[in-house]
Amino acid sequence: MKVIHLTDIHLTRNRDQKMFDVNPYENFDFVCDEICRIKTLTEIELIIVSGDIANDGDVDAYRYFLQKMESLKTPYIAILGNHDLKNNFDIALSEEQNQYIINSHEYKNKSWHFISVDTVVEGEDFGFISETNLAELERKIIKNSNANIAIFMHHHAIPVGIPLVDICMLNNGKELLALCEKYEVKFIGSGHAHTARVWYHNTMTTCVAPAVVFQWLPGIDTVKISKGFGFNIIDFSSDVSIASCIY
Ligand SMILES: [Fe+2]
Repeated sequence: MKVIHLTDIHLTRNRDQKMFDVNPYENFDFVCDEICRIKTLTEIELIIVSGDIANDGDVDAYRYFLQKMESLKTPYIAILGNHDLKNNFDIALSEEQNQYIINSHEYKNKSWHFISVDTVVEGEDFGFISETNLAELERKIIKNSNANIAIFMHHHAIPVGIPLVDICMLNNGKELLALCEKYEVKFIGSGHAHTARVWYHNTMTTCVAPAVVFQWLPGIDTVKISKGFGFNIIDFSSDVSIASCIY
C-alpha cells in the first residue's frame, strides 16, 4: 500500500503573504496537483499530514487546507504541529461535512496499523509526548500487535544535524524510540525539521519528510532556506520504501 506523507505546509494569514519569498499556498496547490497526477499512475490509499498546516493557526488557512484535501478524494489524517491552533482547526472542521478526513487519527488495513501521536506542547516550539499519551500509544501498539505498526507525529525524534530545529525537537524522543523498539514498531514518520532524512535501526525505519513550504539548509543555526519543497510517497510493502518527491 502507498501512503503520501505531507508535512509543514505553513499556510499564512492571507494568500498573498510570503515566507522568505515563498508563497505556501502556491506550493500546496502545486503539491495537490502532483498528488492528483500521481493518483492516475498508482493507487494512493492514504494521505498523512504531520502538522504545521497553518503558520499562524488561522481559521481561513484551515478552511483552505480542508477544502483542498477533500478535493483529493483520498482518506487523510491531519496531525497538528507547534504552529497550529487546535481550537481554530476544530472550528474549520465543524463548518463543513468533510468526507475523507479520518477523525480517529488511526487507519488500519490487513497488514498495517497507522497510529498518530500528539507531540504538541501549547505555546512551545519543542515537542513532548505526555505520560498519558505515551501510555495510550503503548496500549494501541499492544492491541494491534498482529499488524505492522507505523507511527506518525509532528516533531522529529532523532536530531537531523540542523541546530536551528534540533533545539526544539521531540524532548522525549529517546523514550519514544525505546518504546517502539520494545514492540518492534516498523515505521516512525515526522515533520517539523524542514528537511528529508531516513534512519534504519534493526527493523525500524524512522523518517522525516521534506516540508511543503521550504527546507532549512543543513547545519545552520540561523534562518537560511532552500526553496526546494516536496513530500514523500511511502510504500508499505514487506520492505518499506520511500520516494522523496522534490520540486
Ligand atoms: Fe513545527
